[in-house]
Amino acid sequence: SLVHGTEILAGAQKGHYAVGAFNTNNLEWTRAILAAAQHTNTPVIIQSSMGAAKYMGGYELVQHLVQDTIKSMHITVPVIMHLDHGNFEAAKAAIAAGYNSVMFDGHDLDFQDNLEKTKEIVALAHERGISVEAEVGSIGGEEDGVIGEGELADVEEAKQLAATGIDFLAAGIGNIHGVYPDNWKGLHFDRLEELRDAVPVPLVLHGGSGIPVEQIQKAISLGVAKVNVNTEQQIAWAKEVRKYFEADKDKLEKGFDPRKVLAPGTKAIQDTVEQHIKWFGTKPIK
Ligand code: G3H
Ligand code: ZN
Repeated sequence: SLVHGTEILAGAQKGHYAVGAFNTNNLEWTRAILAAAQHTNTPVIIQSSMGAAKYMGGYELVQHLVQDTIKSMHITVPVIMHLDHGNFEAAKAAIAAGYNSVMFDGHDLDFQDNLEKTKEIVALAHERGISVEAEVGSIGGEEDGVIGEGELADVEEAKQLAATGIDFLAAGIGNIHGVYPDNWKGLHFDRLEELRDAVPVPLVLHGGSGIPVEQIQKAISLGVAKVNVNTEQQIAWAKEVRKYFEADKDKLEKGFDPRKVLAPGTKAIQDTVEQHIKWFGTKPIK
Protein backbone atom coordinates (compact mmCIF):
# COMPACT_ATOMS: atom_id res chain seq x y z
CA SER A 1 0.00 0.00 0.00
CA LEU A 2 1.05 3.61 -0.56
CA VAL A 3 2.04 5.43 2.61
CA HIS A 4 3.76 8.74 3.40
CA GLY A 5 7.33 8.75 4.63
CA THR A 6 7.17 10.41 8.02
CA GLU A 7 6.65 7.46 10.36
CA ILE A 8 8.64 4.98 8.34
CA LEU A 9 11.73 7.17 8.29
CA ALA A 10 11.35 8.20 11.92
CA GLY A 11 11.22 4.48 12.77
CA ALA A 12 14.28 3.83 10.63
CA GLN A 13 16.23 6.60 12.33
CA LYS A 14 15.33 5.23 15.75
CA GLY A 15 16.14 1.68 14.72
CA HIS A 16 19.48 2.68 13.11
CA TYR A 17 18.67 1.38 9.67
CA ALA A 18 17.78 3.13 6.42
CA VAL A 19 15.09 2.76 3.79
CA GLY A 20 16.33 2.76 0.20
CA ALA A 21 14.96 5.26 -2.32
CA PHE A 22 15.24 3.95 -5.86
CA ASN A 23 14.45 5.84 -9.06
CA THR A 24 12.00 4.52 -11.59
CA ASN A 25 11.95 5.17 -15.33
CA ASN A 26 9.20 2.95 -16.72
CA LEU A 27 7.12 -0.17 -16.11
CA GLU A 28 10.10 -2.55 -15.89
CA TRP A 29 11.93 -0.40 -13.32
CA THR A 30 8.76 -0.01 -11.31
CA ARG A 31 8.15 -3.76 -11.27
CA ALA A 32 11.79 -4.53 -10.41
CA ILE A 33 11.89 -2.10 -7.46
CA LEU A 34 8.56 -3.28 -6.08
CA ALA A 35 9.52 -6.94 -6.52
CA ALA A 36 12.74 -6.36 -4.56
CA ALA A 37 10.82 -4.78 -1.69
CA GLN A 38 8.24 -7.55 -1.62
CA HIS A 39 10.93 -10.25 -1.81
CA THR A 40 12.82 -8.76 1.13
CA ASN A 41 9.54 -7.91 2.93
CA THR A 42 10.73 -4.37 3.60
CA PRO A 43 9.32 -0.87 3.03
CA VAL A 44 10.64 0.94 -0.02
CA ILE A 45 10.71 4.42 -1.51
CA ILE A 46 10.12 4.53 -5.23
CA GLN A 47 10.90 7.93 -6.65
CA SER A 48 10.78 9.77 -9.92
CA SER A 49 12.92 12.72 -10.90
CA MET A 50 11.33 15.59 -12.82
CA GLY A 51 13.07 14.29 -15.94
CA ALA A 52 11.80 10.73 -15.50
CA ALA A 53 8.24 11.94 -14.92
CA LYS A 54 8.45 14.05 -18.07
CA TYR A 55 9.82 11.07 -19.98
CA MET A 56 6.98 8.85 -18.78
CA GLY A 57 4.24 11.38 -19.52
CA GLY A 58 3.68 13.29 -16.30
CA TYR A 59 3.27 12.96 -12.55
CA GLU A 60 -0.27 11.58 -12.75
CA LEU A 61 0.80 8.83 -15.06
CA VAL A 62 3.73 7.88 -12.81
CA GLN A 63 1.52 7.90 -9.75
CA HIS A 64 -1.04 5.67 -11.45
CA LEU A 65 1.67 3.40 -12.81
CA VAL A 66 3.07 2.80 -9.34
CA GLN A 67 -0.33 2.43 -7.72
CA ASP A 68 -1.65 0.03 -10.36
CA THR A 69 1.55 -2.02 -10.33
CA ILE A 70 1.29 -2.37 -6.56
CA LYS A 71 -2.20 -3.75 -7.07
CA SER A 72 -1.44 -6.08 -9.93
CA MET A 73 1.67 -7.50 -8.24
CA HIS A 74 -0.15 -7.87 -4.91
CA ILE A 75 2.53 -5.84 -3.15
CA THR A 76 1.83 -5.82 0.60
CA VAL A 77 4.89 -3.94 1.94
CA PRO A 78 4.61 -0.16 2.51
CA VAL A 79 5.58 1.86 -0.56
CA ILE A 80 6.38 5.57 -0.45
CA MET A 81 5.82 7.29 -3.81
CA HIS A 82 8.27 10.19 -3.76
CA LEU A 83 9.31 13.07 -6.01
CA ASP A 84 13.10 13.25 -6.26
CA HIS A 85 14.81 16.69 -6.56
CA GLY A 86 11.68 18.66 -7.43
CA ASN A 87 11.70 22.38 -8.08
CA PHE A 88 8.83 24.47 -6.68
CA GLU A 89 6.49 23.84 -9.62
CA ALA A 90 7.28 20.13 -9.74
CA ALA A 91 6.66 19.70 -6.01
CA LYS A 92 3.26 21.34 -6.36
CA ALA A 93 2.42 19.22 -9.42
CA ALA A 94 3.44 15.98 -7.68
CA ILE A 95 1.34 16.90 -4.64
CA ALA A 96 -1.65 17.52 -6.91
CA ALA A 97 -1.04 14.24 -8.73
CA GLY A 98 -1.23 12.21 -5.52
CA TYR A 99 2.41 11.45 -4.69
CA ASN A 100 2.62 10.74 -0.97
CA SER A 101 6.02 12.32 -0.50
CA VAL A 102 7.94 15.09 -2.26
CA MET A 103 11.42 16.54 -2.21
CA PHE A 104 11.63 20.26 -2.70
CA ASP A 105 15.20 20.89 -3.78
CA GLY A 106 15.94 24.58 -3.32
CA HIS A 107 19.74 24.26 -3.23
CA ASP A 108 20.13 26.59 -6.22
CA LEU A 109 18.13 29.40 -4.57
CA ASP A 110 19.57 31.77 -2.03
CA PHE A 111 18.97 30.39 1.42
CA GLN A 112 16.10 32.72 2.45
CA ASP A 113 14.26 31.83 -0.73
CA ASN A 114 14.88 28.11 -0.19
CA LEU A 115 13.51 28.49 3.33
CA GLU A 116 10.37 30.40 2.25
CA LYS A 117 9.54 28.03 -0.59
CA THR A 118 10.17 24.99 1.61
CA LYS A 119 7.65 26.43 4.09
CA GLU A 120 5.07 26.82 1.33
CA ILE A 121 5.53 23.25 0.14
CA VAL A 122 5.33 21.94 3.73
CA ALA A 123 1.99 23.74 4.21
CA LEU A 124 0.58 22.40 0.94
CA ALA A 125 1.85 18.87 1.52
CA HIS A 126 1.00 18.46 5.18
CA GLU A 127 -2.57 19.57 4.56
CA ARG A 128 -2.85 16.43 2.46
CA GLY A 129 -0.80 14.08 4.63
CA ILE A 130 2.20 14.18 2.28
CA SER A 131 5.76 14.11 3.62
CA VAL A 132 8.44 16.62 2.56
CA GLU A 133 12.20 16.38 2.07
CA ALA A 134 14.28 19.55 1.79
CA GLU A 135 17.94 20.06 0.86
CA VAL A 136 20.70 21.94 2.63
CA GLY A 137 24.11 22.43 1.10
CA SER A 138 24.25 20.57 -2.20
CA ILE A 139 25.04 17.21 -3.72
CA GLY A 140 27.94 17.35 -6.15
CA GLY A 141 27.64 16.24 -9.76
CA GLU A 142 24.49 15.93 -11.85
CA GLU A 143 21.22 14.09 -11.31
CA ASP A 144 18.98 14.18 -14.35
CA GLY A 145 19.81 17.77 -15.19
CA VAL A 146 19.97 18.96 -11.55
CA ILE A 147 23.54 20.15 -10.98
CA GLY A 148 25.20 20.75 -7.61
CA GLU A 149 28.54 22.14 -6.47
CA GLY A 150 28.92 19.71 -3.58
CA GLU A 151 28.75 22.46 -0.99
CA LEU A 152 28.87 21.14 2.61
CA ALA A 153 25.65 21.58 4.57
CA ASP A 154 25.69 24.49 6.99
CA VAL A 155 24.49 23.46 10.45
CA GLU A 156 22.68 26.75 11.15
CA GLU A 157 20.84 26.54 7.82
CA ALA A 158 19.95 22.92 8.51
CA LYS A 159 18.37 23.95 11.83
CA GLN A 160 16.31 26.64 10.14
CA LEU A 161 15.13 24.28 7.40
CA ALA A 162 14.25 21.59 9.93
CA ALA A 163 12.18 24.16 11.84
CA THR A 164 9.89 24.60 8.80
CA GLY A 165 8.29 21.28 9.70
CA ILE A 166 9.92 19.15 6.98
CA ASP A 167 9.91 15.41 7.53
CA PHE A 168 13.45 14.62 6.36
CA LEU A 169 16.51 16.55 5.27
CA ALA A 170 18.99 15.88 2.49
CA ALA A 171 22.40 17.22 3.43
CA GLY A 172 25.51 17.76 1.36
CA ILE A 173 28.27 15.90 3.20
CA GLY A 174 30.70 15.36 0.34
CA ASN A 175 28.34 13.00 -1.51
CA ILE A 176 28.14 13.17 -5.29
CA HIS A 177 25.53 12.10 -7.84
CA GLY A 178 26.64 9.63 -10.48
CA VAL A 179 29.99 7.84 -10.53
CA TYR A 180 32.52 8.92 -7.86
CA PRO A 181 35.87 10.18 -9.14
CA ASP A 182 38.98 8.19 -8.16
CA ASN A 183 40.25 11.03 -5.99
CA TRP A 184 37.01 11.35 -3.99
CA LYS A 185 37.75 12.16 -0.35
CA GLY A 186 34.86 10.23 1.20
CA LEU A 187 31.91 11.36 3.31
CA HIS A 188 32.35 14.12 5.93
CA PHE A 189 31.31 12.21 9.04
CA ASP A 190 32.17 15.10 11.40
CA ARG A 191 29.68 17.33 9.65
CA LEU A 192 27.11 14.53 9.60
CA GLU A 193 27.45 14.15 13.35
CA GLU A 194 27.07 17.89 13.89
CA LEU A 195 23.94 17.86 11.75
CA ARG A 196 22.54 14.85 13.55
CA ASP A 197 23.04 16.57 16.90
CA ALA A 198 21.52 19.84 15.65
CA VAL A 199 18.40 18.65 13.80
CA PRO A 200 15.76 16.19 14.95
CA VAL A 201 14.53 15.03 11.52
CA PRO A 202 15.92 11.94 9.76
CA LEU A 203 18.75 12.72 7.32
CA VAL A 204 18.94 11.63 3.70
CA LEU A 205 22.07 10.48 1.92
CA HIS A 206 21.95 11.20 -1.82
CA GLY A 207 24.36 9.86 -4.40
CA GLY A 208 24.27 6.37 -2.88
CA SER A 209 25.80 4.70 -5.95
CA GLY A 210 29.44 3.80 -5.51
CA ILE A 211 29.88 4.85 -1.86
CA PRO A 212 31.79 2.03 -0.11
CA VAL A 213 29.30 0.03 1.94
CA GLU A 214 31.20 0.65 5.21
CA GLN A 215 30.79 4.40 4.70
CA ILE A 216 27.08 4.02 3.95
CA GLN A 217 26.60 1.94 7.09
CA LYS A 218 28.56 4.40 9.18
CA ALA A 219 26.38 7.23 7.85
CA ILE A 220 23.28 5.22 8.77
CA SER A 221 24.64 4.72 12.29
CA LEU A 222 24.99 8.53 12.46
CA GLY A 223 21.37 9.36 11.64
CA VAL A 224 20.84 8.74 7.93
CA ALA A 225 17.46 7.04 7.44
CA LYS A 226 16.99 7.28 3.66
CA VAL A 227 19.63 6.46 1.06
CA ASN A 228 19.06 7.37 -2.60
CA VAL A 229 20.45 5.06 -5.25
CA ASN A 230 19.94 5.54 -8.95
CA THR A 231 23.08 5.23 -11.07
CA GLU A 232 23.87 1.71 -9.85
CA GLN A 233 20.59 0.34 -11.19
CA GLN A 234 21.24 2.09 -14.49
CA ILE A 235 24.70 0.54 -14.78
CA ALA A 236 23.41 -2.93 -13.84
CA TRP A 237 20.59 -2.62 -16.37
CA ALA A 238 22.79 -1.36 -19.22
CA LYS A 239 25.34 -4.13 -18.65
CA GLU A 240 22.68 -6.82 -19.02
CA VAL A 241 21.14 -5.25 -22.10
CA ARG A 242 24.57 -5.10 -23.74
CA LYS A 243 25.29 -8.67 -22.71
CA TYR A 244 22.00 -9.83 -24.19
CA PHE A 245 22.91 -8.53 -27.62
CA GLU A 246 26.54 -9.54 -27.47
CA ALA A 247 25.74 -13.10 -26.37
CA ASP A 248 25.40 -14.34 -29.93
CA LYS A 249 25.29 -12.86 -33.41
CA ASP A 250 21.78 -14.13 -33.98
CA LYS A 251 20.43 -11.83 -31.34
CA LEU A 252 21.69 -8.78 -33.17
CA GLU A 253 19.42 -9.76 -36.06
CA LYS A 254 16.57 -11.65 -34.47
CA GLY A 255 16.63 -10.72 -30.82
CA PHE A 256 14.16 -7.91 -31.13
CA ASP A 257 11.38 -9.10 -28.84
CA PRO A 258 11.38 -6.32 -26.22
CA ARG A 259 10.13 -8.64 -23.50
CA LYS A 260 13.15 -10.87 -24.00
CA VAL A 261 15.61 -8.01 -24.49
CA LEU A 262 14.56 -6.31 -21.25
CA ALA A 263 14.11 -9.34 -18.98
CA PRO A 264 17.74 -9.79 -17.84
CA GLY A 265 18.16 -6.04 -17.25
CA THR A 266 14.99 -5.95 -15.19
CA LYS A 267 16.25 -8.87 -13.10
CA ALA A 268 19.56 -7.01 -12.60
CA ILE A 269 17.71 -3.96 -11.27
CA GLN A 270 15.84 -6.14 -8.79
CA ASP A 271 19.08 -7.82 -7.64
CA THR A 272 20.85 -4.47 -7.17
CA VAL A 273 17.94 -3.05 -5.20
CA GLU A 274 17.80 -6.14 -2.97
CA GLN A 275 21.54 -5.91 -2.36
CA HIS A 276 21.18 -2.30 -1.23
CA ILE A 277 18.21 -3.07 1.00
CA LYS A 278 20.41 -5.65 2.73
CA TRP A 279 23.30 -3.19 3.08
CA PHE A 280 20.94 -0.59 4.56
CA GLY A 281 19.68 -3.10 7.13
CA THR A 282 16.09 -2.19 6.28
CA LYS A 283 13.94 -3.88 8.89
CA PRO A 284 11.43 -6.41 7.51
CA ILE A 285 7.72 -5.85 8.08
CA LYS A 286 6.18 -8.08 10.73
O1 G3H B 1 18.41 11.59 -5.96
C1 G3H B 1 18.92 10.55 -6.40
C2 G3H B 1 20.14 10.06 -5.87
O2 G3H B 1 20.77 10.95 -5.03
C3 G3H B 1 20.89 9.06 -6.64
O3 G3H B 1 22.28 9.27 -6.79
O4 G3H B 1 22.56 8.22 -8.98
O5 G3H B 1 24.50 8.74 -7.54
O6 G3H B 1 22.94 6.92 -6.91
P1 G3H B 1 23.13 8.23 -7.60
ZN1 ZN C 1 19.88 13.03 -5.27
